[in-house]
Amino acid sequence: MYSIINDSARAYKGVIPTDRWKEPYMSEEELRFQITDGVDFWGYEYGGTIIGVMGVQPRQDVTLIRHAYIRTANRNQGIGGMMLAYLLEKIMTPVLVGTWADAAWAIRFYEKYGFKKVSPEVKTQLLKKYWSIPERQVETSVVLADRRWLAQREAGYQLE
Ligand SMILES: CC(C)(COP(=O)(O)OP(=O)(O)OC[C@H]1O[C@@H](n2cnc3c(N)ncnc32)[C@H](O)[C@@H]1OP(=O)(O)O)[C@@H](O)C(=O)NCCC(=O)NCCS
Repeated sequence: MYSIINDSARAYKGVIPTDRWKEPYMSEEELRFQITDGVDFWGYEYGGTIIGVMGVQPRQDVTLIRHAYIRTANRNQGIGGMMLAYLLEKIMTPVLVGTWADAAWAIRFYEKYGFKKVSPEVKTQLLKKYWSIPERQVETSVVLADRRWLAQREAGYQLE
């Protein structure tokens, strides 16, 4: 998982703000912390090797998709789409995902699965409510919500 995440995260280099880039992008210590913090990692295995990982983290009344990484050499082959569709089937709550505002490919990827970007004001509220990330990451991220979350919001259940 550690090597896939850090191989795949090279996609961010030169795209996200330079003060947010680090190498390795996710340290082993950080990865261990994510697991103890409740991120349930799923892997996609091909020919005996894991080539993609995606995390699911239940938080209060929603589930977050965290750390979605497909190995660079295996991107754009439908693997991320298969993993996301599989996980969305299993998840019973509204789903939110946060990513870098500059990661246009990731935003497009989630939009393909019915997610929509929330407004900057709602984004800030959601990141503070469900994530534990530094202020600078709040500024430079976007949040996308799935159909279930959007339907609940429409009905007035969210952000009471
Ligand atoms: C975002 C990410 C997880 C998506 O995984 P992926 O396996 O590349 O996703 P898919 O292959 O299902 O879809 C990506 C694109 O490939 C296209 N695609 C899917 N199957 C394809 C195939 N067989 N041949 C060619 N293209 C294909 C999809 O149409 C999609 O294109 P579009 O976005 O232009 O519409 C992956 O790009 C990644 O790891 N990126 C770097 C890290 C990152 O940004 N993570 C997200 C953080 S939240």
